[in-house]
Amino acid sequence: MDEPWQVALEASAREKLPPAVYRYFADGAGQGITTAEAHEAWSRTRFAPHVLRDVREIELSTTLLGMTYRAPVGLAPTSLQRLAHPDGELAMARAAAATRTLLCVSSNAGTRFEEIGDTGASWWLQLYVPDDRTLVEPLLEDAVRAGASAVVVTVDAAGTRVRADAVEPLDEVSARYRVNHADPAAPGAAGHAFDLGVHDLDRVARLTGLPVVVKGVLRPDDARRCADAGVAAVWVSNHGGRQLDRSVATADVFGSVAQEVGDAVELYVDGGIRGGLDLVAAVARGADTAFVGRLALFALAVGGEAGVVELLDRLRDELQDSLRRAGCVSPADARGLVPADAPPAG
Ligand SMILES: Cc1cc2nc3c(=O)[nH]c(=O)nc-3n(C[C@H](O)[C@H](O)[C@H](O)COP(=O)(O)O)c2cc1C
Repeated sequence: MDEPWQVALEASAREKLPPAVYRYFADGAGQGITTAEAHEAWSRTRFAPHVLRDVREIELSTTLLGMTYRAPVGLAPTSLQRLAHPDGELAMARAAAATRTLLCVSSNAGTRFEEIGDTGASWWLQLYVPDDRTLVEPLLEDAVRAGASAVVVTVDAAGTRVRADAVEPLDEVSARYRVNHADPAAPGAAGHAFDLGVHDLDRVARLTGLPVVVKGVLRPDDARRCADAGVAAVWVSNHGGRQLDRSVATADVFGSVAQEVGDAVELYVDGGIRGGLDLVAAVARGADTAFVGRLALFALAVGGEAGVVELLDRLRDELQDSLRRAGCVSPADARGLVPADAPPAG
């Protein structure tokens, strides 16, 4: 068997990056159990493909919060992209614009939101909420002005596991990746509130006038609370295994979340998505889109903007090919590909 392209991509990135930076991107929290299991959990999905269907035309375009994208795969927010490539978030944004891909920008991005907006990419802001809620108000205003069309509130980061100052001295890190914070050195600006509640989601919606997506949900009961609080979408994620090690794999819990709130809100998923078959597994379970984190960082490290475009084209082509083999003409048509009587993933 040939080496899978994903393995070769990560190996090239590893060769190119300083060891500490590669580890910062690749590692998970604790013993890395959750990170290691993420892709494997998707690969346990088994499909019951359709046959005798006309699959000449496959329609991949996907509408999320009212905007249409090329395919149900987006770019997850990741910090420190300028350590992967000198063009960092700008290269990622240009690749998103060139491929009509949804871009989610970390609030700890090393590029001004205005520059990201100028690329023409359709983008959402990812937000960490600090203890002092007022500290992020200027950042939210800037993002709205620069054309962000939704705010993704990350709710699974009560502890900061990976310390960027292991990669570079703290003041350099701050200068590189907190350029959108009015006062990056303000006490508590980089902290994450321990008393985050659903009222915070409503507050962000009122401040910005934008739809709110909640990222980091792993349980149907939490998803229900978020849906009842009026969020536009729930993003099932364990932060790439970078927060609580031994958290469940997203592939193993997505179905139960979809069952609980799939009729009420849009649903997204990330964690271990590495190729077209993982994307089919996600949409078959009811995801409106999936997102890639590390894969995009590795592509950025290896090839900058062109590297990310190549990755997104490849994922699109693999998804199209896999849907065709499954006898499906669109991502929505893939619902039901995972038979109800098959053992659940995991
Ligand atoms: C290096 C790195 C930095 C990240 N930074 C953020 C961030 O700033 N905000 C956030 O919500 N998630 C962040 N994440 C989590 C991703 O958005 C995403 O949930 C995760 O990477 C998906 O798993 P995957 O890497 O297996 O695709 C980060 C992940 C990595 C690997």
